[in-house]
Amino acid sequence: MEPVIDPVAESLGDAITIDAHLANGHDRSLAEDVLDGLTRPFKELPPKHFYDARGAELFDRICELPEYYQTRTERSILNERAGELAHVTRAVELVELGSGTASKTKVLIDALRNAGTLERYVPVDVTERVVRDCASALTAEYPGLRVHGVVGDFERHLDRVPAATGRRLVVFLGSTIGNFPPGSRRRLLRELAGLLDSEDHLLVGVDLVKDPALLERAYDDAQGVTAEFNRNLLRVLNRELDADFDPEDFEHVALFDPEHEWIEMRLRAQRAHTATIRALDLPVRFERGEEMRTEISAKFTRRRIATDLHAAGLELTDWLTDRDELFALTLSRRSLSPVG
Ligand code: SAH
Ligand code: AVI
Repeated sequence: MEPVIDPVAESLGDAITIDAHLANGHDRSLAEDVLDGLTRPFKELPPKHFYDARGAELFDRICELPEYYQTRTERSILNERAGELAHVTRAVELVELGSGTASKTKVLIDALRNAGTLERYVPVDVTERVVRDCASALTAEYPGLRVHGVVGDFERHLDRVPAATGRRLVVFLGSTIGNFPPGSRRRLLRELAGLLDSEDHLLVGVDLVKDPALLERAYDDAQGVTAEFNRNLLRVLNRELDADFDPEDFEHVALFDPEHEWIEMRLRAQRAHTATIRALDLPVRFERGEEMRTEISAKFTRRRIATDLHAAGLELTDWLTDRDELFALTLSRRSLSPVG
């Protein structure tokens, strides 16, 4: 167990509270992840380090790309079904993991406000800027709504989510759950289940298995925004760990792995070279053509996510999808007889 350190808690008027748990670089676990991931025979870094301020901006641009159907499809499902979700969940508070700019979440906030139940929104994200901006924007837009932002890592800091004030809806949108391999995915879902009481609900967005060509285009867009997002990881290492990567030395790679049914994003070295991560005194050798994995993005079937939810002590209660079955929202509750 990590010790629970007092957050940098800040109250900004009555409506906004922000708890910052990633005030120093150590808390982000970047150095550990680099030591661990870049000294392996097959190099790999976890995707959460993409999201510095620039990475968050690039991700927002990805969401607007014609090839990246995920965001607009999930939004369309929410537009169609938010009233029903508000009616079923009657949530007094909305907790969101990896909230980002919360632009789709507003559809749910509108519906829950219209239903007269929602009092508090709790966004949890690693990027401090987006948590703060989203808290200011939402409290201005929804008078009377309280926002308790948590700047933290949802894999390590879920115990810092403030105690529930009433019936909860926990949301995890954008298919961010797909960025975890199966074992970690179930562990995370199990921890999310731990945030729920018997009356509460969990809403998870999942991208569905489809034509690989469509999937690969979504991760290798014509304007090269996803390539820049991928290379941004190297800029994060240069800035945070005083590394000397030249992002232009690396090519963006996005491939669908049909066996695992996930997209892999990689960075491929264009020439043999050694980069130095000065803060760790770590030389990292790349051969020409060597690839470093930066993200997996799993694609789901109804059965796969239902099985994962079940293994995590959750029960799928509703499956909401678009006409073309590109994307789905799963609503679940704690199982009456939890597994394990
Ligand atoms: N929910 C938004 C954003 C998805 S992008 C949407 O559906 O469009 C993924 C978001 O999760 C980013 O905002 C990123 O900063 C955040 N994130 C990634 N890994 C995280 C982690 N381990 N802990 C907390 N937030 C994380
Ligand atoms: C946040 N996450 C679900 C996105 C995805 O599709 O896996 C991140 C992303 N990577 C490339 N494009 C978008």
